[in-house]
Amino acid sequence: MDKISENRENLNELLKAQAHVWNHIFKFTHSMSLKCAVELGIPDIIQNHGKPMTVTQLVAALPTLNPTKACNIYRLKRILVHSGFFAQQKLSDDSQEDGYVLTNASRLLLKDNPLSVTPFLKAVLDPVLTKPWDFLGIWFQNNDYTPFDIAHGKTFWEYASHDPKLGNSFNEVMASDARLVSSVLIDKCKGTFEGLNSLVDNGGGTGTLGKAIADAFPNLECTVFDLPNVVADQDSGNLKYVGGDMFEDVPVADAVLLKSILHDWDDA
Ligand SMILES: C[S@@+](CC[C@H](N)C(=O)[O-])C[C@H]1O[C@@H](n2cnc3c(N)ncnc32)[C@H](O)[C@@H]1O
Repeated sequence: MDKISENRENLNELLKAQAHVWNHIFKFTHSMSLKCAVELGIPDIIQNHGKPMTVTQLVAALPTLNPTKACNIYRLKRILVHSGFFAQQKLSDDSQEDGYVLTNASRLLLKDNPLSVTPFLKAVLDPVLTKPWDFLGIWFQNNDYTPFDIAHGKTFWEYASHDPKLGNSFNEVMASDARLVSSVLIDKCKGTFEGLNSLVDNGGGTGTLGKAIADAFPNLECTVFDLPNVVADQDSGNLKYVGGDMFEDVPVADAVLLKSILHDWDDA
């Protein structure tokens, strides 16, 4: 008996299983469609419209759209509704078209949102960071430290220090995350900092979290420690910046803060 006849009784299960595989094969279309919508400025256009926007209105508002591609905006919109970035709203009983509004998730992609995750989206979906995934299978079989090293011949940190576009966009990603985390940390974990005279934020990036802690605890001597090409800011008040390599030496302090650090290296 061949495989298909064997499974005939379970045809429904088989179809479900195939759909499951296909869903995973095509999952990248969700992230790539989202990236495309952000590149076209669609979340900001819908927001600025101020009321539910039809696809016809959206097409008319896209200044750089090639008119021969206009019908595909409808298809892009369908993917983004499915993945929860646009919500459909009926305009009126006699309206031929529905309107679309942003969701909480797409509001996080607006240019002026201080908690915008757009830098994160742009960095993670940049070909520099998607290419290493092609090497995951090879990485399991060789001695390279990460798939990034195989794809680019250097570590992520070396690459970022020589490519200001990637370096700046990565630093901006971390800063936008730190803006959200710092307000929660200072509000909910105040007690953790009480009684300390000094603190070093090891791998503290461009210092968003360090600055927020130094402002909230004026008696605490805060040091932001990171690679020399990352710490470019000026010391001020109880905040200072030190460049170096954490694997050689870390400034001495009562406490060391490690935010989004441990996952980047192996346990040793
Ligand atoms: C994932 S980021 C975290 C940044 C920051 N802690 C935050 O959460 O916003 C890791 C940081 O480690 C820094 N880093 C990488 N290698 C380092 C090293 N050898 N010594 C010190 N810092 C390093 C990077 O420049 C980067 O800022």
